[in-house]
Amino acid sequence: MIIAVDGPTASGKGTIAKALAEHYGLPHLDTGLLYRAVGYQCRRDGGEPQSLADALAACSFDDRLLEDPVLRSEEVGGLASQVSVHPAVRQALFERQRAFAMQDGGAVLDGRDIGTVIAPEAEAKLFITASVEARAQRRFLEMRQRGVPVSLAEIADDLRRRDERDRNRAVAPLVPAEEAHVIDTSNLGKDEAIAAAIAAVEHAIS
Ligand code: DC
Repeated sequence: MIIAVDGPTASGKGTIAKALAEHYGLPHLDTGLLYRAVGYQCRRDGGEPQSLADALAACSFDDRLLEDPVLRSEEVGGLASQVSVHPAVRQALFERQRAFAMQDGGAVLDGRDIGTVIAPEAEAKLFITASVEARAQRRFLEMRQRGVPVSLAEIADDLRRRDERDRNRAVAPLVPAEEAHVIDTSNLGKDEAIAAAIAAVEHAIS
């Protein structure tokens, strides 16, 4: 069974995808990490994420980079969003995601275009969303716990900018697949959100 979990930054899709993978005993791929690795590598090489040539060159990053916690920072999230607008970058990362989705036994993938582009045949498609305010508040608490000095307003502005770019890009924009089950986690705790996601998958495969 392939489960596609799409949605904007800080919607809870990563937590939900991990929980679904555990529940159904499936391997999980956080596809955002691939774009983050490209964004980070591009910057490390002295490149500009808006430059197609620079972003494309960064697609041959070393896989060990995927383990580096630096990829989880807000700054790298912004770089990832910028390199992800290039169709050639998306194409370069396509096969790897597609192969993961098609492995024997199935998989859970989370990202922006899993149900629409990477695995349109997924048996279950979820679109996880939440208000900008709820997502900013979560990110804020997370960052404060890690001791990163940021303001709530800064985070909210950054989320809006990234949403705008992810939704309006020409190729594979962030939109729910037609048959996706939409879950709004604005007012849900972690356990409630996971329970809603499992119920949605059960419904999709019944
Ligand atoms: O999910 P995330 O915050 O780690 O993703 C970082 C950026 O990568 C996001 O702003 C857009 C891009 N991305 C994408 O375009 N397609 C995906 N399947 C996953 C992420």
